[in-house]
Order: sequence, then C-alpha cells, then structure tokens
Amino acid sequence: MSMASQPLSAISGHRNLKFPCPLLLLLPALFLPNSLTFASPCRTSCGNIPIKYPFGIDDGCGAPQFRRMFNCSTDLFFLTPSGSYKVQSIDYDKQSMVIYDPAMSTCSILQPHHDFTMTDIQSIIIPPSPDTVFALLNCSIDSPILNHYKYLCFNFSGHSCDELYGACNAFRVFHLLTNSTSPPCCFTGYDTVKLMSMNILDCSHYTTVLNSENLKGVGALDWEYGMKLSFSVADLGCDRCEKSGGSCGFDTETEGLLCLCSISSNHTRDCVGGNISSGGPNQASVVFIREFIFLFLSILHLTLTHY
Ligand SMILES: *[C@@H]1O[C@H](CO)[C@@H](O)[C@H](O)[C@H]1NC(C)=O
Ligand SMILES: *[C@@H]1O[C@H](CO)[C@@H](O)[C@H](O)[C@H]1NC(C)=O
Ligand SMILES: *[C@@H]1O[C@H](CO)[C@@H](O)[C@H](O)[C@H]1NC(C)=O
Ligand SMILES: *[C@@H]1O[C@H](CO)[C@@H](O)[C@H](O)[C@H]1NC(C)=O
Ligand SMILES: *[C@@H]1O[C@H](CO)[C@@H](O)[C@H](O)[C@H]1NC(C)=O
Ligand SMILES: *[C@@H]1O[C@H](CO)[C@@H](O)[C@H](O)[C@H]1NC(C)=O
Repeated sequence: MSMASQPLSAISGHRNLKFPCPLLLLLPALFLPNSLTFASPCRTSCGNIPIKYPFGIDDGCGAPQFRRMFNCSTDLFFLTPSGSYKVQSIDYDKQSMVIYDPAMSTCSILQPHHDFTMTDIQSIIIPPSPDTVFALLNCSIDSPILNHYKYLCFNFSGHSCDELYGACNAFRVFHLLTNSTSPPCCFTGYDTVKLMSMNILDCSHYTTVLNSENLKGVGALDWEYGMKLSFSVADLGCDRCEKSGGSCGFDTETEGLLCLCSISSNHTRDCVGGNISSGGPNQASVVFIREFIFLFLSILHLTLTHY
C-alpha cells in the first residue's frame, strides 16, 4: 500500500469534496473476509438491451461510478434527478447510449415543460453528446438566450423556428397564438440547459434531436427525437476479467473493484489466475486497487477542474 498512501495524503488536503472520502479509509477492508452478497451472477440484458461493463443493473455489477443509474423494470431506464429515461439502445463500441423521455415534447406531441437535469457525476461521465441538439421553443422575448446569452444559440444546419412551428403538428399552436411573428426559439447544446433551468431560459417547451449533424435539408418531421449520451470509463483491466469468464463488479460496501467469477472466488483480477480460497491479500487485488485509486483521482481531478 506504500504507493497508494501518497495520493491518499494528497486527497485529504481538500476538505470541500463532494466525494465520500471515508471510502478510501475503508480500502483495507477489502483484505478482510468478503462482505459482498452475491447470490446470482450479474444480469447481462434488460428487455432487449444488452448490459455490459461499465453498466450494471444488479448492485455490485459494472463500474461503481455508474452505480444506481439504472432501473430494469421490464425495460431499462436511465435515472437522473429529473426523471427516468427509457434506454433505446446502447452502442458499447462507440460508447454511446440513446435515451428517450416519454414526457418530452416532439414534433407530434406537445407536453408540459420540465427540466432535464443530471447529477454532477453524470454530467461528467455520461453527458449528452455534442450531436444532440436542444431546441428551446416559444421563448419569451426577455429570455437570456435572446439577449445577453444570445451567443449560446447556434445555426442548426440552416433550420429555423418558423420551419419547426410550421412543420410540426405539436408546435403549430405557438404559431396560432400570436398574430404577427412567431415566438423565438433557440437551437443550443446541453451546456446551456445545464447552466440555466427552463424557468430561467424563459422558454415554455423544449425538444431534443439526436444525430443532428446529418439533418441539413431534412424536415423536422423526419428528425430523430431523443438524446444521445456519450459515456467514458477508464480501462481497469476489465477485459482480462471478462476473457476469463468473470464479470467486472465491485464490493457493494467499499466500492473496491472485483472480478466476479463464482461463489468460490470473489477477490481476483481474473477468474483463471487467482482462485483465492482463504481471503488473504494477493498481488492481483493490490494492483487492481491501485488502479481504482488512480481512476478515482482522475475523476476527482476532472470534477475539481470543472468548477
Ligand atoms: C424502478 O422502477 C420501478 C417501476 O417503475 C419502481 O417501482 C422502482 O421504485 C424503481 N427503482 C428505482 C431504484 O428507481
Ligand atoms: C408560450 O409562452 C407563453 C409565455 O411566454 C405562454 O404564456 C404560452 O402559454 C406559451 N404557449 C404554449 C402553447 O404553451
Ligand atoms: C445557417 O447555415 C446555413 C448553412 O448550413 C446558411 O446557409 C445560412 O445562411 C446560415 N444562416 C445564418 C443566419 O447564419
Ligand atoms: C390578430 O389580427 C387580426 C386581424 O389581422 C385582428 O383582428 C386581431 O385583433 C389580432 N389579434 C391580436 C391578439 O392581436
Ligand atoms: C465469496 O462471496 C460469497 C458471498 O458473500 C461468500 O459466501 C464466499 O465465501 C466468498 N468467497 C471467498 C473466496 O471469499
Ligand atoms: C477454484 O477453486 C474451486 C474450489 O475451491 C474449484 O472447484 C475450481 O475449479 C477452481 N477454479 C479454477 C479456475 O481453478
């Protein structure tokens, strides 16, 4: 643990962290008899969506950073502070996930407005991708994005508000209510919505469009509504664990990484090398923990530089 103790003292210098620092103090607990309750192997799908690292739907499966972000109740849902979003697809190679909010307005249905919010961690490790465009609709002329923050709105492949209000049944109502000019709208990115709530933006509705870079000359009726999130996760040697037949997971109390093999060996980096039956420390798990601390510090660094 001598290598690990250096970054540990670096961390304890910061007092106002949002992370549960006492977690690190629990690391030695990894070497004690295991507290993981692991009755069945990790589920590998939910509905028609395959579940692989870094995601997990059973507690202790996947990467701990994504813990409690999913709910599998017949279908897979991605949970954020603003609601549960149905997962349409996950592309593990491109590291992207498409979600759909059934309560969101689209070209064909107008629904009461609400905000899209993520936790701080989520907006770092699984934010909406740059090709997801937020269309803010029926904005008041006093909206900050029409005044001081005008620069946050961009030219979305030449599309206009009038086009949207005209082409979509759901948005035609904005046209009808005002006599002369249609109310302003704004095409923008997630950062704007992250910065300002819909109330502050002073727009009554929004919709989101994905794969936006291919929509030049394509009418609003044919846009794909939803949100694409891009996720990232450090490579912690999960390949090795999976190749040996295990699932990457973590201890539900300490969040220390584990390769979940079978009931007979929980503590190993892979399922071939160490078949530890006596619960003592072994080289593989020490290396694994070091990598975990490294990842932890990387995220911490990201979080701190973000503010
Ligand atoms: C998961 O979804 C089900 C059904 O929608 C709900 O009853 C349950 O509370 C949800 N669990 C979490 C952790 O959100
Ligand atoms: C459009 O926004 C105005 C406020 O700026 C609001 O009074 C009106 O109800 C909105 N239109 C619709 C159809 O929601
Ligand atoms: C927006 O971009 C299109 C090309 O995609 C261009 O033809 C159009 O003039 C631009 N509009 C404005 C207002 O800059
Ligand atoms: C809309 O325009 C019509 C005639 O063009 C006028 O009679 C009516 O009063 C206007 N309504 C509003 C709300 O301005
Ligand atoms: C693995 O975890 C299970 C469930 O907690 C436990 O019964 C078993 O003894 C553990 N095996 C080892 C080798 O620690
Ligand atoms: C691990 O140990 C168990 C008994 O403790 C044995 O049945 C199993 O075959 C071993 N697995 C490997 C991969 O050595």
